[in-house]
Amino acid sequence: MTNVIVVGAQWGDEGKAKIIDLLSENADLVVRYQGGCNAGHTVVTGDQTYKFHLIPSGILYKGTTCIIGCGTVINPEVLHREIEELKEKGIDTSGLYISTSAHITLPYHIDIDELNETALGDKKIGTTKRGIGPTYVDKYDRVGIRAEDLLDETALKEKIDLVLPKKNKLLESYGYKTYEKKEILEFCKKYSEILSPYIKDTVEMLRQAVLEKKNILFEGAQGTMLDIDHGTYPYVTSSSPIAGGACLGSGIGPTFVDKVVGVFKAYVTRVGEGPFATELGDIDGEKLQQIGAEVGTTTGRKRRCGWFDAIIAKHSALLNGLTDIALTKLDVFDSFEEIKICVGYEDRRDGRIYEYYPSNTSLHKYFDPIYETLDGWMEETSEIKNYDGLPINAQKYIKRLEEIIGVPISIISIGANREQTIILNNPLRCKAGINA
Ligand code: GDP
Ligand code: IMO
Ligand code: MG
Repeated sequence: MTNVIVVGAQWGDEGKAKIIDLLSENADLVVRYQGGCNAGHTVVTGDQTYKFHLIPSGILYKGTTCIIGCGTVINPEVLHREIEELKEKGIDTSGLYISTSAHITLPYHIDIDELNETALGDKKIGTTKRGIGPTYVDKYDRVGIRAEDLLDETALKEKIDLVLPKKNKLLESYGYKTYEKKEILEFCKKYSEILSPYIKDTVEMLRQAVLEKKNILFEGAQGTMLDIDHGTYPYVTSSSPIAGGACLGSGIGPTFVDKVVGVFKAYVTRVGEGPFATELGDIDGEKLQQIGAEVGTTTGRKRRCGWFDAIIAKHSALLNGLTDIALTKLDVFDSFEEIKICVGYEDRRDGRIYEYYPSNTSLHKYFDPIYETLDGWMEETSEIKNYDGLPINAQKYIKRLEEIIGVPISIISIGANREQTIILNNPLRCKAGINA
């Protein structure tokens, strides 16, 4: 039995799906533990490209049980579409399960997300407008609709009676369309018929899996710096992407977890608003955006790009208790003469230097990055099969990151395809990549 959590270690889109797909080959269960269809996860296998928002990427392996855990929020329409698309591609979805306790995003949540963003004006978060925050608000306000309510019409009606008038009042006051109870119930009925075969007590499934000593992979969405408690608040998402969130959002205790793999991009990207000390507004930023094809999978927005920030990487290593690092998109640097790593922040008001990540996020807008510069390698890496084959300067970059963060880099990704991976130390004994 090996249980592994895979977390995004930056601001999301680190390439988690590629790593989860690789590790899934040896997983019996894959559990997505938080977030909703704000996530956009891409897996490339040979000539096929799969895009996931809610379903764990482990679904591509026949026989793998995939759970959408209790910490998630589910837009039933998006989930249904995703299931249908997979079926069309010949992927078996019979191993998919939805936790009875997962929360359901209803049409009014999406309107409220839009309304909130408009009301914030130039202070907007830059959300994906998928209703994620408002669904979590209802969860914590204890008026949310859970997947189990789709199985119980009476309970559902009672809950909608309770919550809908308040939502309509809010929507009306901002000039938005209101909803009839009938309309919401019909929406729920439609998706209840489609999704009820998948809804299950997934905590019990996990208990059985632990007893049977199965390998469980916990799939995080978003990234550490978007964590509601530890990210760049308020420019965060409304859930807990960090490793601790895997316990909450799946229903397993921390002592059952063996390893935590943090996925880092070789540089940093961010979608939406919020501080980003190493963001590049110059030609290097444009190059990263273009070569890295940095466009959001969910919203199609251009991702903001910048140099690797070792300060947030160290913060991330501690918060998640990382045992391993998967470093992705190293190939994007192939044509860079110089590469920078941010090793500190300087407060431009008083020159104070920070070598750690201050949790007071109101300070961050005053930070200028302090860089260390390394030579690039100016060679193509995407076909390289083992670590020793990597250019010396690429090895130096990897070693330097490892040294600063203090966590071993176990997986190096040099292309979107499964095969474009160098595995130095396999957290879940995976076979798909090349073992160096
Ligand atoms: P996720 O949200 O963390 O799963 O990441 P996304 O799927 O949103 O974004 C990562 C993008 O980079 C996807 O389009 C991947 O196919 C692609 N990708 C992943 N690893 C690599 C890599 O090592 N090199 C390159 N060039 N692309 C990669
Ligand atoms: P994956 O799983 C990158 C960002 C949004 C916005 C903030 C809040 O693909 O890495 P939300 O809609 O969640 O309330 O928006 O979080 N965001 C992501 N950025 N990757 C993601 O997911 C994201 N999911 C949300 O852009 O800044
Ligand atoms: Mg993504």
